Amino acid sequence: MTDFPTVPAEAQTVLDVIRSRRTVDITLLRPGPVPRGVLEAILIAGTWAPTHGRTQPWHFTVFTGESRTRLGEVFAQAYAAGSAQDRDSETALAAQRVRALKAPAWISLELHVPSTSKFPLWEEQAALSCAAQNMMLAATALGLVSKWASGAVMVSQVTAAALGAPALLGFIYLGYPAGEAPDSTRAPLSEKVTWAQ
Ligand SMILES: Cc1cc2nc3c(=O)[nH]c(=O)nc-3n(C[C@H](O)[C@H](O)[C@H](O)COP(=O)(O)O)c2cc1C
Repeated sequence: MTDFPTVPAEAQTVLDVIRSRRTVDITLLRPGPVPRGVLEAILIAGTWAPTHGRTQPWHFTVFTGESRTRLGEVFAQAYAAGSAQDRDSETALAAQRVRALKAPAWISLELHVPSTSKFPLWEEQAALSCAAQNMMLAATALGLVSKWASGAVMVSQVTAAALGAPALLGFIYLGYPAGEAPDSTRAPLSEKVTWAQ
């Protein structure tokens, strides 16, 4: 972690959580369940995202335990309706069913823009994205690892319809880590920041 000598300890904790969140592959999750109270804390963090005009353009469906079997079936239907070359393959569809069971918890990122919203779509998508990041940071703070999954199946209209959502920005899957998450990299500030004179 980078040290900021002038940053108070509580602030440093927040900065450390932001820095230590990592995108983790589904194979690196422990199979054990995530307690409901932990998931509720994560969802509450999501709902405290900024939202222009407080449109709160989100709905989250949480899949844990047995309900993941239904989610896997939805993934398989979405895959079959997609454009992958092997969309008719039973093996490929079975892989989609199994995929849902590989993470202990899935949270959908459903975009529900109120008809009264005066804001452009991108702002509503940005608000839901802020909610997603809040949830992944809360998960990190609570000792979980996660990934925002946004592949074709995750944002498919078939998947959205099964959830009763107008649109989907994907899912966050979560679980306790089975080992060390691989670290990530970022370009230095010198490449990404201009200090205006
Ligand atoms: C909108 C969005 C969608 C993403 N979708 C995927 C995805 O479908 N599959 C994936 O492996 N990672 C996905 N990611 C995670 C990125 O791959 C990840 O953030 C990047 O590799 C950097 O790793 P880090 O998050 O550990 O720093 C997504 C991230 C964002 C912001």
